[in-house]
Amino acid sequence: MNKVIGTGVNRKDGRAKVTGTATYAAEHQIPGLVHGYLVTASIANGQIKSIDTSAAEKAPGVIAVFTPKNPPKIFKPANDFMSSKIYEERLPLSDDKIYYGGQIIGLVVADTFERSRHAAHLLKIEYTTQQPLVDAKKATFKDAPPLFGEELKFEKGNIAAGNSAAQVKIAATYTTATELHAPMEPHAIIAHWQDDNSLTIYEPSQWVAGSQRTYAQLFGLPTERVRIVTPFIGGAFGSKAFPWPHAILTAAAGRQIQRPLKVVLSRRHLTANTGHRSETEQLIRLGATADGKLTVIEHEAKSCTSPVDVFPEGCTGITPVMYDAPNLRLKQDMATLNIGTPTFMRAPGENPGMWAMESAIDELAWALKIDPVELRLNNETTEHQRHGLPFSAKHFADCLRVGADKFGWKDRPKQVRTLTRDGKLIGWGVAAATFPGMRGQASVKARLLGDGTAHILTAGNDMGTGAYTIVAATAAEILGLPVEQIRVEMGDSLLPDGGLAGGSQMTASLIPAVMSACAEVLKTADAKTAQEALTKLQQSGQSAFEATATSAPGDEAKKWAFQSWGAHFCEVSIDEEIGRLQVTRWVSVMDIGKVMNAKTAASQIRGGVIMGIGQALMEECHLDPNIGYPVVYDLATYHFPAHADIPRIEVIFVGEPDLNFNPAGARGVGEIGITGVSAAIANAIYHATGKRIRDLPITPDKLL
Ligand code: MOS
Repeated sequence: MNKVIGTGVNRKDGRAKVTGTATYAAEHQIPGLVHGYLVTASIANGQIKSIDTSAAEKAPGVIAVFTPKNPPKIFKPANDFMSSKIYEERLPLSDDKIYYGGQIIGLVVADTFERSRHAAHLLKIEYTTQQPLVDAKKATFKDAPPLFGEELKFEKGNIAAGNSAAQVKIAATYTTATELHAPMEPHAIIAHWQDDNSLTIYEPSQWVAGSQRTYAQLFGLPTERVRIVTPFIGGAFGSKAFPWPHAILTAAAGRQIQRPLKVVLSRRHLTANTGHRSETEQLIRLGATADGKLTVIEHEAKSCTSPVDVFPEGCTGITPVMYDAPNLRLKQDMATLNIGTPTFMRAPGENPGMWAMESAIDELAWALKIDPVELRLNNETTEHQRHGLPFSAKHFADCLRVGADKFGWKDRPKQVRTLTRDGKLIGWGVAAATFPGMRGQASVKARLLGDGTAHILTAGNDMGTGAYTIVAATAAEILGLPVEQIRVEMGDSLLPDGGLAGGSQMTASLIPAVMSACAEVLKTADAKTAQEALTKLQQSGQSAFEATATSAPGDEAKKWAFQSWGAHFCEVSIDEEIGRLQVTRWVSVMDIGKVMNAKTAASQIRGGVIMGIGQALMEECHLDPNIGYPVVYDLATYHFPAHADIPRIEVIFVGEPDLNFNPAGARGVGEIGITGVSAAIANAIYHATGKRIRDLPITPDKLL
């Protein structure tokens, strides 16, 4: 059997994407399509006193104007994450209050996009305005609610005893800024009703079957009367998993006017209405013996939510898995601001959590005069200290050792401000990476056709990660066919439920189902290879051998904790005269279990590292402190890295297939790459300059 899995297979969807034939949501051509433009609040706290829609209604081409005075009909969904989920609990236009700047307060529909946008600006709105609260420093924090059913507060051992056993202690506060997902493809939707009882939605969706059920509940339809079409997604990072208010409003309005309706969000709309990663503030206290054994870890985190939903950024989830501490205390608080609803963004919780933890560990290493790689190795934990379960497969130490070797870490000067090059200060930094292994149920249909091709079908989708490609590679290997002869169709709710493309779990959920479906096809044919099956197919006179398989986790999570690991090593060059920093070298070593595709897996890590460099050095969404409106609202004002900001990123994989986790042994790779990146950079900055920076992003003013 030819090995395909694990080799560097080219992207199945690559050609379609670079030649423009991959159809994204807003590009679907529907006859009779009309266009909507959102009306958004220009204040951040208060109430609508009056809305005058008369000029807009008379404007050329206008078909309908929706405001809180005439909201289209929407049913309240269960919103329990099992049967349905919407990002913002409050339904659009359901009252006349303004909870945050940029909140959707209307939708104008016209025959062209330009006419809808023009008419949207003709609405005359008067507000009763109150002072918005957008400054977290002035907010009141309370205990955060549980996240996925787990209390965010936790304590084990004896904190006082841990502190008195410590010979060296550090305590520091670390902050992160409000960050935007900033996907290349803006959020967009086409809602196409067939009469009043059947709805087709073209929308980028990370959770096809979940969206289908959610829209069905929102409109009082049986699930099978909703179809979600989402073959391609141009970046999501957690912001395209569930319907946002703009999408619910578009579908509701489309039903009322009985015309296919398209709404594409502007970058300004995206800022307020499609989620963000909350700013965070984290206090970490570490205590250790003089020879570098942790005696205590305390981790307190704060994040903010909107007035219309609750989303805590679970920063302390990483703490019980990273380092062995007999005494451990976690606490998480949350405050409400007049800001759009925050949500999942690549490694939600893990990312800011690892920024704080990996910075603190570096501070402790300097205080102890112990190499930070060695300090991490000395404090490895073999079990999840909260769940009391051993890790199924853990190669964190290999990540650190292989990375140190590759980077040349042993040559690192032990003093700050000693490395220079071309008049610039040079510094080296290390930080760990981690992300849990998650898996859900997924179904796949496989078909072997008489012409020697196979067709793999699932509603599970590819948000740019390479899922099309690993599905094809897996089918090619199991069937024994060249990967070119495998056709993959994904992202349509007419196909078998393929689970959620989130939590880095699409690979772990879907690939076992692909394996089973392909094996089942061969079994149906009573054949060992596709060649043998094809002969039987010709003899039988059937058109295809076909099988559908479902794969789901069993009770393995009762026996093991599943977690991926990594280490980032980087070099920075700093010109203190002008505060200019360049990241000049990067090595990432990852243990993700089985690597399904060497090429796309490395790309996922690189993407994560690049996004992490953006977080470390540039990304920050500001709100006007007086009016509470986002003053960062496009890709010019929201800074993120360009090619010139990024060095060559070397990615190495270590570890072994995690076969306790699933039959593929793969734990997924989408999110781990971004964890630890900002800490590795701040740690390198300390090595270069002797200055510890604890507030992100590390903009030039902080380096002067
Ligand atoms: Mo991810 S933040 O689960 O898309």
